Amino acid sequence: MRNNSTHEMFPEATHDEQSLQNYIKSLRVFATRGFHGGNKAVFEAKVAPALRRKTGAKMPSRKAMREAMDKEEHNQWWSAVMRNTQEMLYDSVGPSIERQLPALVKKAKTLRNKRGSLKLDSKIKVPPYLAAVDMHCKPGSYQQELGDDDVFPGAEFDRTFRLFSMGGLGPNLDDQGWTAIKWIKKKFPKLKPKRILDLGCTVGHSTLPYCDGFGAGVEVHAIDVAAPCLRYGHARAVAMGKDVHFRQADAEHLPFPDEHFDLVVSHALMHETSKKAIRQIYKEAYRVLRPGGVLTFLDGITPNNPYEKFYAEWMAHYNNEPYLGTVQDEDFKAICAQAGFKPSKVIVEQTAPNLKPRATDEKIVFQYIIVAAQK
Ligand SMILES: C[S@@+](CC[C@H](N)C(=O)[O-])C[C@H]1O[C@@H](n2cnc3c(N)ncnc32)[C@H](O)[C@@H]1O
Repeated sequence: MRNNSTHEMFPEATHDEQSLQNYIKSLRVFATRGFHGGNKAVFEAKVAPALRRKTGAKMPSRKAMREAMDKEEHNQWWSAVMRNTQEMLYDSVGPSIERQLPALVKKAKTLRNKRGSLKLDSKIKVPPYLAAVDMHCKPGSYQQELGDDDVFPGAEFDRTFRLFSMGGLGPNLDDQGWTAIKWIKKKFPKLKPKRILDLGCTVGHSTLPYCDGFGAGVEVHAIDVAAPCLRYGHARAVAMGKDVHFRQADAEHLPFPDEHFDLVVSHALMHETSKKAIRQIYKEAYRVLRPGGVLTFLDGITPNNPYEKFYAEWMAHYNNEPYLGTVQDEDFKAICAQAGFKPSKVIVEQTAPNLKPRATDEKIVFQYIIVAAQK
């Protein structure tokens, strides 16, 4: 796979940088396909039956699964390759972005406010649950700034996420957005949203589909706490000809009035927020939704599959995804009820990606959970 540009803001790679990144993507394909499959076989043939015999539970606890797998030689090898591949992802892309950072900062400034808008607020504090860790080994997470008007974390995310997802999210990395739109249209055919808010948008990969997904004339807003991702995301949206109003804000305390939006969405936000923050974010989403409006939160959570649950636990412990384990055990219906939604108006469903799997080694493996609730 070439890490091809789909827009003017996309960072370039020299021949050598590209070939190193291609190698890392191939290593990731190897680690998450055949090698991962071998680990699954060890889990299903040996570890899970032994745990079931010992505990009598159909779904052993995450901790019990992790501790049993830690003793398996296959898992030790797989684990080492996975963690190293993750670090190599950033080690390979980081220097390439740093090399061209002044040009990227300049380009973002040139594109600024040509359409849509960007509103930053230096008073916004990054919540401690994000600031305390290099999320999934991304140095400085989403928010660290290397200089004035920095776009580094956003530019780095655009390239690394493309490698990380191995082609599975499409060339614009927007499969989560299009999957949610398709699902919303099916479940809420009468909903014709005119004002939409995307929470935890990072650089807007999943936001941009909402500019077209419900027809013309829709006002699309997107918030995140990370200023450098928003700077890059706004410039990317302008470069891709889309109008989005990006704003630096904390999803736990939204800077919008009550009943302001028809639709509030998020993609891959739930697994990167603390238990306490998730509850507050649902409450805020309820507050800013108009009566009849819909919340749709999509994430890569697979709570009913024991091996996938073990994998999430592995990610939490060994891949700097601190909340990916605990989020598997959440009762989203109860969280929605606590936020104010009527239980009869809540849907929690697993869904397949919008993109059709392709007949290559990059074929899609993603599965999403969708939590939806109507006010
Ligand atoms: C995995 S990324 C989301 C990816 C993005 N939604 C997409 O589909 O490409 C998680 C994002 O959530 C943001 N985030 C986490 N907690 C937040 C909060 N309380 N308020 C706003 N943004 C938050 C992080 O800064 C990060 O950019």
